[in-house]
Amino acid sequence: MSTVSDALDALTDLQPDRARITADILHGLSQHPRQLPSKYFYDARGSQLFEQITRQPEYYPTRTELQLLQQVCADIARAVGPHLHVVELGSGSGRKTGLLLHALTDPVAYTPIEISRAALLDSVARLAEALPEIEMLPVCADFTRPVALPEPQREPARRLLFFPGSTLGNFAHDDAVALLDAMRQTMGPTGLALIGIDLHKDPALIEAAYNDAAGVTAAFTLNLLRRLNREIGSDFDLDGFEHRARYSVPRLRIETELVSRCAQRVQVAGRAFDFADGEAMTVEYSHKYTDASFGALIAEAGLRVRMQWNAEAPAFGLRLLERA
Ligand code: AVI
Repeated sequence: MSTVSDALDALTDLQPDRARITADILHGLSQHPRQLPSKYFYDARGSQLFEQITRQPEYYPTRTELQLLQQVCADIARAVGPHLHVVELGSGSGRKTGLLLHALTDPVAYTPIEISRAALLDSVARLAEALPEIEMLPVCADFTRPVALPEPQREPARRLLFFPGSTLGNFAHDDAVALLDAMRQTMGPTGLALIGIDLHKDPALIEAAYNDAAGVTAAFTLNLLRRLNREIGSDFDLDGFEHRARYSVPRLRIETELVSRCAQRVQVAGRAFDFADGEAMTVEYSHKYTDASFGALIAEAGLRVRMQWNAEAPAFGLRLLERA
């Protein structure tokens, strides 16, 4: 039995500090082309804006995955078996998690690993109320780095890693392989992973999802600069950059950039960075997959697909992975 306050007491807090964020940003600004890590989108405001994105008519992935999960969660529950320790990479809003946890047979514990403390506490508070019989063991951390997982009080049958939302797509190839490799290790010999992936489709549909008419995605992208100004004391001019998101068919990915509207100088932690007029800084990749590209990617990390479920039009997939 886990109450909201038990869940908060159990919180493991490894949120990245100012020094870590500053080091990552200085590194990214020194690359050519410049690159800022998309994981820093998710401060409290960034998480709220992402929630709003998921409700935009153009942004199909969230509602498509939710509908798919609703349709197939009984099949998934049969495939993974009872008494699981469910470990989610990024807790997001918890809507998908609620669906999965309700469908599973007697899950033992739930560990969301989430970089945004606000989003983590919010989702755990809601889930702990709805599912008091599941032990809540939240971890506030960057899941791309190794995390020691809390041990549930009851012995689980196996771990199930849950990684929905096609968040894997936000990782460049080598980072995705490293993350999948870490997932394989965290799963242990008998563990499984359930992962959501956005599938390649009409580029116009994909591009629209990252350029919604209401401008929420643009606000989300620019919020990264606001966050950095507040947390590491940089002086990015928010009016000096604009959001641009284009789909590269050969690379099967959305490439989101912040484009400098003029020649300008930005100060970060005592260092000056000059931007040319029109210079683009990459802030996010959102990879889309074919069966072949996804199969090849997970094989590099020693994983293979055990079962799969697809939504058609717009195409989106859930994949149950096991050790190869
Ligand atoms: C979280 N992630 C999978 C989203 C995506 O689709 O790449 C983040 C996002 N960025 C802009 N819109 C949504």
